[in-house]
Amino acid sequence: MSKNIHPVFDKVLSREDKEKLLNQHAIVVWMTGLSGAGKTTIASNIAKQLNKLGYLTQILDGDNIRTGINNNLGFSEVDRYENIRRISEVSKLFLDCGIVCINSFISPTNEIRNMAKEIIGEDNLFEVFVDSPIEVCEQRDIKGLYKKARAGKIKNFTGIDSPFEIPSNPSLVLNTADKNVEVCVQELLEKLLPRIKY
Ligand code: ADX
Repeated sequence: MSKNIHPVFDKVLSREDKEKLLNQHAIVVWMTGLSGAGKTTIASNIAKQLNKLGYLTQILDGDNIRTGINNNLGFSEVDRYENIRRISEVSKLFLDCGIVCINSFISPTNEIRNMAKEIIGEDNLFEVFVDSPIEVCEQRDIKGLYKKARAGKIKNFTGIDSPFEIPSNPSLVLNTADKNVEVCVQELLEKLLPRIKY
């Protein structure tokens, strides 16, 4: 094949080139909310829907980050900040690769979320507040962590003895206590598609 047919491949590809190659616009979808609010469930469901529609996605969440790149971090204020800082830098790499990056992290404070926004760039970030009252999260207690936190076996647990600040201006609020997963995912999909359609 002649070298001139694909001049775009002659140089290192820019984000725009990669987006063209993938036929999509990159974005970081950032789910914030309490443990047990439904962030991971929504993330995996939205990824499946997007994959079906032909979009390339990458999920980042506690399971693949806190056991890998961030396995030296705990839940002190300083460690949570560092957790989100690294995640934001990693997200930026996916963004520059043209990928739809779907993050679910408690990211509990305005300071932490603002730092993520600064690293990723506000225009590149779609913040979703996965909103469920602590009573509902605690009642679900899928991982049994609230019980342990109440018993004093886990310290600095978000919503119990560590703060969660309500996001002041999220791109979308999904109330998972009142709406089921399908409805929330559909709502998110409708908001997201215009942003990522090439
Ligand atoms: S963040 O605050 O730094 O954003 P992150 O989302 O990575 O937290 O991790 C939260 C997950 O770690 C929770 O869903 C829960 O499973 C687990 N976890 C363990 N200890 C704690 C704790 N002290 N506070 C909150 N979550 C904890």
